[in-house]
Amino acid sequence: MTTDVRTIAWTGDALRLLDQTVLPARVEHLEVRDVDALVDAIRRLAVRGAPALGVAGAFGVVLAVRQAGREGWDGAARDAAIARVREARPTAVNLAAGVDRVRPRVPAGLAAVEAEARAVLAEGVRADRAIGGHGADWLESRCPDRPLRLLTHCNAGALATAGRGTALGVVRELHARNRVEVVYADETRPLLQGSRLTAWELHEAGIPCVVQADAAAASTIMRGLVDAAVIGADRIAANGDTANKIGSLGVALACAAAGIPLLVAAPWSTVDRAVPDGGRIPIEERPGDEILAFGGTRTAPDGVPAFNPAFDVTPARFVTALATETGVLEISAGDTPERRPQLAEPVPVRPAHL
Ligand code: MRU
Repeated sequence: MTTDVRTIAWTGDALRLLDQTVLPARVEHLEVRDVDALVDAIRRLAVRGAPALGVAGAFGVVLAVRQAGREGWDGAARDAAIARVREARPTAVNLAAGVDRVRPRVPAGLAAVEAEARAVLAEGVRADRAIGGHGADWLESRCPDRPLRLLTHCNAGALATAGRGTALGVVRELHARNRVEVVYADETRPLLQGSRLTAWELHEAGIPCVVQADAAAASTIMRGLVDAAVIGADRIAANGDTANKIGSLGVALACAAAGIPLLVAAPWSTVDRAVPDGGRIPIEERPGDEILAFGGTRTAPDGVPAFNPAFDVTPARFVTALATETGVLEISAGDTPERRPQLAEPVPVRPAHL
């Protein structure tokens, strides 16, 4: 990116978040110092995207420990605050995984907690680079030998992680290899992560993109205008069923019908091997006013309620492949996380003093 933006960073006494609710109109940061402010930022999607939520969860433990010291909380109050961070959003498993990774360090004290959270952040940066390389290699091996026409849904870019992005990390890598003709960015109703965030990120990186309505995606794919779709994930079950932003399933079905690959790009921290299949993935339902109004003006008749699931689940048979930091699994061919547990052992970044 040419604009100096870091989605999530630890300043030493605050979690600095790029406020994604005001992009692309304004580049503003939030300095989060307490648990209530972090929970609010997560719920409002000021920080969002599964890997970034993992880092937020990790530093949420740091904030809770610091606040407990500052305000004289007992252990129960501190633990309740940590639990509130963990439960701020339900679908992206990374949030709970980030908390669960750091929480066991609490008895060892603040320095140990902070070091573990920093390790989570560093691992995320490193994972994105490896995912980008593996995903780009795989797409190059599966797609025509020319610059590719790609489609993505929601935002799985640098704005959704601590690094360069997962799906958009793959796109960035392909672009560096002169292998991107254009990216169709689905606008991603109702909160417009595609048009507000993905289009901004790709434009900043000089990667050609066009925004299209979500409803256009199937037709664009079936008309032969797309070589492959690349998306992120919020939670991947052991059998490869994949939860991602609502509308991803439609993209996957269209890819299957058109015979083009759907590549999911995600770190192993997004794989929940405790969940056997997608039917057990909790799907967040968000407030109805996100879809009953447009630009602040109510569009639906008064008195009509909304159904507003934020995510859907793509069955494993429609996921051609999953690019992780340790390699690619060809999911629809049966190469699922439960079958390849050895790939799930990335070398963690260990803080030096631990
Ligand atoms: O509701 P959001 O914006 O947090 O949803 C984000 C997505 O669905 C992303 O595609 C997913 O988290 C992967 S981000 C690398």
